[in-house]
Amino acid sequence: MATPMPAARRATRIEPFQVMSILERAKALEAQGRDVIHMEVGEPRFPLPAALVEAARRAVAEESMGYTPSAGLPALRQAIATRYGERYGLDIDPARVLVTPGGSGALQLALGSVLDISDGVLVTDPGYPCHRHMAVMVGADVRTLPLDAGDAWRLDAAQVSAHWGESVRALLLASPANPTGAVVDVDSMRRIHARVRALGGVLIVDETYQGLVYEVEDHTALACGSDVAVVNSLSKYFGLTGWRLGWLVAPEGYAGVAERLAQNLYLAPPTLAQHVALAALGPELAGEFERRRALLRRRRDLLFQGLTELGFGMAAKPDGAFYLFASLPPRWGDGLRFARELLEREAVAVTPGSDFGSGACQGILRIAYTAEDARLREALVRLRRFLRAD
Ligand SMILES: Cc1ncc(COP(=O)(O)O)c(C=O)c1O
Repeated sequence: MATPMPAARRATRIEPFQVMSILERAKALEAQGRDVIHMEVGEPRFPLPAALVEAARRAVAEESMGYTPSAGLPALRQAIATRYGERYGLDIDPARVLVTPGGSGALQLALGSVLDISDGVLVTDPGYPCHRHMAVMVGADVRTLPLDAGDAWRLDAAQVSAHWGESVRALLLASPANPTGAVVDVDSMRRIHARVRALGGVLIVDETYQGLVYEVEDHTALACGSDVAVVNSLSKYFGLTGWRLGWLVAPEGYAGVAERLAQNLYLAPPTLAQHVALAALGPELAGEFERRRALLRRRRDLLFQGLTELGFGMAAKPDGAFYLFASLPPRWGDGLRFARELLEREAVAVTPGSDFGSGACQGILRIAYTAEDARLREALVRLRRFLRAD
């Protein structure tokens, strides 16, 4: 057979996730009958509410399942804009709202609309790895903005100025953040926005975990001005990961170009999921999503206390999302080795911090607290045994 052509250099720069090998091994152990506790994937495990099952049934029976407009069903774009009015007191033009296949689709539209080949984009380290990978795929020059565990991984405007370079055109950050759970508060977001604007760039805020905040104010970067791009998703607060729906609120003047990208990248977001999303955003389920948030907060507290007692290091309890980003107890340097051995010996699956960042992240784990309380308690028992046995 002839030697295959090498793959595109840009594509080969996309790094694999270490956690995929953990996940694969976890599945193999389960196939052998082991009871694996999953704390590696970022997925809430709540059942689909009956009202959404019904909405899906009704849509299949009564609606056309053909393509919708590329920017999504007009009623859904309006419902999203209305939600910003009701929850955050903001008047968002539905023409700026594009419904997308997951927050992932919205990130691609945002980066594709803002960045030219070789434009610089600042992303946080640690941060959500797809941010930098998607930026690579649009040909951007990715620059990292290192965050500090001692500051509970918080980002402020001074760090933005310190790492801005001549060719940088955008700052992309997530709040609440994956993997750290850190939330940029309202005042800091305003300062960051003012700094990015003064530097001539565009602020892109990934609010995929919006609503999943515990003691702090739930807010949106859209309040900073109409020049901000905001990404959001039905995956996390609404627990609809597999339905693949999210949205972009494009900066003023960018919606047209983002829509053309949508037309060409994927034609339209999934139709059935859009009908389900309309029901998810309605008032009927608001109480259910808030009940879930309260459960997640309790699980965060349970796991934070348990891990702290076992000697894991965290500067502060994270304010949002559903992850703890915890340094290994002294003596355990390597997160990947730890995660692999923990899975083999105690059947607990966690994600090595090196999937999210460089340097100190090697000695950190990202642990999701999406499992039920009893499973989290059992995970703590297993972790204690594992640490003692070594
Ligand atoms: C920070 C962040 N942004 C975006 C996404 C993409 O999620 P989805 O495409 O399911 O909306 C994720 C998924 O984990 C995430 O953690």
